[in-house]
Amino acid sequence: MQWATLAAAALFAQNVAAQGSMLRFACSQLVVERVDPLVNPGMKFTPHLHQIVGGNAFNITMDPEADLFAKSSCTSCSFKQDTSNYWTAVMFFKNKAGQYKRVPQTGNGGPQGKLFNDGGLDIYYIPSGKTTAFKKGFRMLAGAAGNTDSSKVKLSNICHRCWTSPNEGTFVGGAPCSGTDTVAIPADTKCKMIRQTIIFPTCWDGKNLDSPNHQDHVAYGQGSGANGGGACPSTHPVKLPQIMYELMWNVTDMSNKADWPTDGSNPFVYSMNIGGSAAHGDYVFGWKDNSLQLAMDNNCNLNGDCPKAGLTKQADSVYSACKKPQQAVESVDGWLKAMPLGEMAIKA
Ligand SMILES: *[C@@H]1O[C@H](CO)[C@@H](O)[C@H](O)[C@H]1NC(C)=O
Ligand SMILES: *[C@@H]1O[C@H](CO)[C@@H](O)[C@H](O)[C@H]1NC(C)=O
Repeated sequence: MQWATLAAAALFAQNVAAQGSMLRFACSQLVVERVDPLVNPGMKFTPHLHQIVGGNAFNITMDPEADLFAKSSCTSCSFKQDTSNYWTAVMFFKNKAGQYKRVPQTGNGGPQGKLFNDGGLDIYYIPSGKTTAFKKGFRMLAGAAGNTDSSKVKLSNICHRCWTSPNEGTFVGGAPCSGTDTVAIPADTKCKMIRQTIIFPTCWDGKNLDSPNHQDHVAYGQGSGANGGGACPSTHPVKLPQIMYELMWNVTDMSNKADWPTDGSNPFVYSMNIGGSAAHGDYVFGWKDNSLQLAMDNNCNLNGDCPKAGLTKQADSVYSACKKPQQAVESVDGWLKAMPLGEMAIKA
C-alpha cells in the first residue's frame, strides 16, 4: 500500500475537514556548501556542510524584507513560483581508513512514482483543514544540529528508513516515520538507500516570522507523522501547511561491510559528525505573492499545474539547470581526508 493511501486514511480519521490533496514536488540541487543564512548569517565556511535547493537568491545573508521571487532568476524546484530555500545537513560515508565521502542523494518515489531530481530532494506541503500559508520573511528550523541524544527526537517527526529496494520508485514500508523507521541512521548492508524524512511544525504564534532559535515561533500540533499536523496549542494557534522533506541517500556503493570502520561505528554520519539524532532541516519561505495560500485554498495537488493558484510546473531540465556556484569554495565530492568542520576540506 502506498503511504499516501495510509496518510489519506489517517487524515480522514483525524480531521473531517481534510481536503486530501497536497503539494508534492521535486527539487534538484542548487548548491552544496558551508553556508547557512538562517543559523549563521553572513558566514562563509559555517560549522558544517549543507545541501541546498530552491531559488538562486540563496545567499550567505538573506534579508527577511527581500522578495525572494523578485530576486531569484531561477529555482531548482518544480514550481516556477516557489523560490523558497530548503536545506539540510549532508550525509557522509566514513570508510575504514577514516576518509569521508559525500553520499549521493535524490528524491523519492511516492504517489506520482518517480520524480526527476538531479541531487536534491522532494518537498511536500500537506494541508489539513484551513491553513494559513507562511508570509514573506518567514523561516524556521526543525531538529537540532548538535543533538547526540536520540531519545530527544520525536520519531514521528524526523526519521530514517532502510530502503531495501534499489529503486526509489518501488515503495518500501508504510507511512513516513512509522513502522520500523528509526531516529538513528540505519547501518545495514541490506539498505540500498536510506530515506530521511523531516516533518516541520504546523502551528504558528501568528506574530513572529522567526525567533532567536528559529523554533520558538512555531510548535508541533497534536498529530503525528505526515497527517497535516493535528490541532494546535493555544500558544501557537495558527495552523500552517505541513512541510515535509524527503531525501534518499543512495548508499548502494557503500554497502560492502569490508569497507566499513573496523571499530563497529556507524559508517553513515551527518556533516556535524553526528548521527540521526542531529538531523535537521531549514526553511526560508519564498513563494511568489500569495500563491502558496491560493494553492492550499484551491486544493492544488502534487506537482501539476494549478491555474487557480497561478502555479506552473517547469520542465525537469529547466529546474534542474538552476545551479549556484559555491560562495564557500571547497571540495565536497570524492574522498576527503577529514569531515569539513572547522578546516577547509582536504582531498584524500
Ligand atoms: C549575496 O550577498 C552579497 C553580500 O552579502 C551581495 O553582494 C550579493 O549581491 C548577493 N547575491 C545575491 C544573488 O543576492
Ligand atoms: C544509486 O547508486 C547506484 C550505484 O552508483 C546507481 O546505479 C543507481 O542508479 C543510483 N540510484 C539512484 C536512484 O540514483
